[in-house]
Amino acid sequence: MNITRRDFLKLAGATGLALSFGRVEAATNEKILVVYFSRTGEEYGTGNISKGNTEIVAEIIAQRTGGDLFEIKPAQAYPNSYEDCKKVASREKATKARPEFVGDIDVAPYTMIFCGYPIWYGDAPQIVYTFLERHDFGGKKIVPFCTHGGSGLSSTDQTISMTCPTAKVLRGFEMRGSVAQNNRSQAESTVVENLRRLGLM
Ligand SMILES: Cc1cc2nc3c(=O)[nH]c(=O)nc-3n(C[C@H](O)[C@H](O)[C@H](O)COP(=O)(O)O)c2cc1C
Repeated sequence: MNITRRDFLKLAGATGLALSFGRVEAATNEKILVVYFSRTGEEYGTGNISKGNTEIVAEIIAQRTGGDLFEIKPAQAYPNSYEDCKKVASREKATKARPEFVGDIDVAPYTMIFCGYPIWYGDAPQIVYTFLERHDFGGKKIVPFCTHGGSGLSSTDQTISMTCPTAKVLRGFEMRGSVAQNNRSQAESTVVENLRRLGLM
């Protein structure tokens, strides 16, 4: 029997089944991975944060799609202080550094990869490129998403396309860090709107 997501939601509602929110297996055949880098500590516009802005968005995407999450955790943590972090980040950008991360994930089983990061100096942090360059995304879809202090995606969708030439990089989306951190309903709506556009909801 074919059951659509809408039927499933109706059925679940009618029978009082507990729903883990928004798994999309009924609506799509995509196998989804949400990869992200995000920093805690002193942050531009949001003060001292214990959960990173991008992490919040990544978790919403995973929750709404049933996708798996992988955090790109730096082997050497970035400084807590915003000013000190800026110094490290600008040096990494200037030298095109490829900072190491801890652990890894096999991307082979996934067909659609959401890739999330904060904008650092008009780009994705270099550690995101470490991750992207280390994997084969041939034939896979990549959806970039970012949080930022006003710069939007800053053409990072294009740099990701150049980094992963065999992937199909779809139109990404962006959110201000302060929205992710302080306005849950707006953050959820932005994610939902984009998941709908991508045919995942
Ligand atoms: C080193 C550094 C550089 C940044 N550069 C920019 C920038 O160029 N444009 C911008 O809009 N925001 C910039 N920001 C702000 C972050 O993109 C924004 O606060 C983001 O939401 C942080 O996400 P996170 O908590 O997931 O790390 C920068 C922040 C840091 C720490």
